[in-house]
Amino acid sequence: MVTSQSPLNSPLYDIEKTVLERYQEGAKVQQPTLCCPTDYDGKYLEILPQEIIEKDYGCGDPTRYVSEGETVLDLGSGTGKNCYILAQKVGAKGQVIGVDFNDEMLKIARQYQPEIANKLGYNNTQFVKGKIQDLTLNLEQVQTWLSAHPIQSIEQLSQFESECDRLRKNSPLIADNSIDLVISNCVLNLVHPQDKEQLFKELYRVLRRGGRAVISDIVCDEDPTPEILNDPDLWSGCIAGAFREENFLKMFENVGFYGIEILKREETPWQVIDGIEFRSMTVRAYKGKEGPCLERKQSIIYQGPWKQVQDDDGHIFCRGERMAVCDKTYQILTRPESPYQTDIIPVPPYQEIPLEEATEFSCQNKAIRHPKETKGSDYKLTETNQAMDCCSPGECC
Ligand SMILES: C[S@@+](CC[C@H](N)C(=O)[O-])C[C@H]1O[C@@H](n2cnc3c(N)ncnc32)[C@H](O)[C@@H]1O
Repeated sequence: MVTSQSPLNSPLYDIEKTVLERYQEGAKVQQPTLCCPTDYDGKYLEILPQEIIEKDYGCGDPTRYVSEGETVLDLGSGTGKNCYILAQKVGAKGQVIGVDFNDEMLKIARQYQPEIANKLGYNNTQFVKGKIQDLTLNLEQVQTWLSAHPIQSIEQLSQFESECDRLRKNSPLIADNSIDLVISNCVLNLVHPQDKEQLFKELYRVLRRGGRAVISDIVCDEDPTPEILNDPDLWSGCIAGAFREENFLKMFENVGFYGIEILKREETPWQVIDGIEFRSMTVRAYKGKEGPCLERKQSIIYQGPWKQVQDDDGHIFCRGERMAVCDKTYQILTRPESPYQTDIIPVPPYQEIPLEEATEFSCQNKAIRHPKETKGSDYKLTETNQAMDCCSPGECC
C-alpha cells in the first residue's frame, strides 16, 4: 500500500535537516506558526519559566494520563514543557526523561533544571540527546567519539559504524523494558517516512510489559497531496508528515500494542489545506499481550452495550455471556488499570488454580464457559434466600 507515509512517497529534500533547522530556530525565537492551541492544566504551569511556556510547539496534552511514581519518557521534548509538567505529577519517586536531537532545545530545557528542581524540592528530570527512531544511540557519546576520530575515509566510516553498534549494545540511551509511560507531543509526524515503523518499534521496545504510550500528534483525514509533501515548510510545520487518522492507530497495532484508544480528537481542524483537514489527536496504547495462554478456569462477562466486541488478539466477547479466557487475557481485561476494566465483569473460579499447575489453554475466538467449570463439578450447595442476610426484618420479598 503506498500512502503518504510510505518510503516510496518520500519527498526529495532532506527532511531531518529541514526539521532540525526549523526547531533550532524555534528554540532561539518563538515561532507563532508552529503553535497549535493547547489546554494544559494551569496549576502545573505556575512554576515554569516564561521562555518554556512560550516556546511550546505541542498540539495536545499527553501529560494528563500519568500516575505518581512512574518513569516517563518524552519523545521530542523541545524546551521541556511537558517534562516539567510530568515532573510535578510523578513526584519525587517518579522519573522523567526527555529526548531530543536538537542542541538548542536541549540547552534551554537543561538551563532551567536547577531552578525548577529548587522550586519542587527534588530533581527527577533529565534531558538526553538522541533520535526518537533510534533510542539505543546516545548522540552525545557519538559526538565525543567523532571529535576524537574525524571521518575522512571509507575505513574510518566503517570504524564509526562499528562504534555506533558497540554503543547501542553496551550503553543504550534508553534500555529495553525500562519505561512505564512514553509520551510525545507533536513530534512523530516530523520523522522521515522510512523511519516511522522503526519509531513505533522503539516505542514498544523501551516500554515495560503493562506500560503504555500516550501520543498527541497531528493527523489528517485524507493523504496529503504531492504539493503538500514537497513543501519543506509544511513538513517541518507538522503538516506534510501527518498520519492519516486511521493509519495512526494501525501503526500501534502493527508493532504489537493492544487496547489502542482515541482519547481526544479535536473537532475543529488546526489547519485545512486543499480541502484536507489537519487536526490534533491523542491516542493511548498498551504493551504486553504476548506470552503463553494458561488455563486457570477464569471467565469474563462483557457488560455491553454493544452486542459483541473483539480484542486485539481476535477474541470475541458476546454481551452477557460467560466467556472462557486464558490467564493472560483475564489479567489484561480485569486488572485495575486496564482500558477494558469498566466494561468487564470478572468471573474467577471458586477454586484458584496455582500458576505452576496451570495447563495450556486452547485459545479460541469465542468460547463460553459452563458455570460448573467456574464452581467445580462437585459443587452442590443449596442456599435459599431465607438463609441469606439480605433483607432487614419485616422487609423481605
Ligand atoms: C513540534 S516540536 C514539539 C516540542 C515539544 N514536544 C512541545 O510540546 O513543545 C518537535 C520537537 O521534536 C524534536 N525532533 C524532531 N524530530 C526529532 C527526531 N527525529 N528525534 C528527536 N527529536 C526530534 C525537535 O527538535 C523539536 O524539539
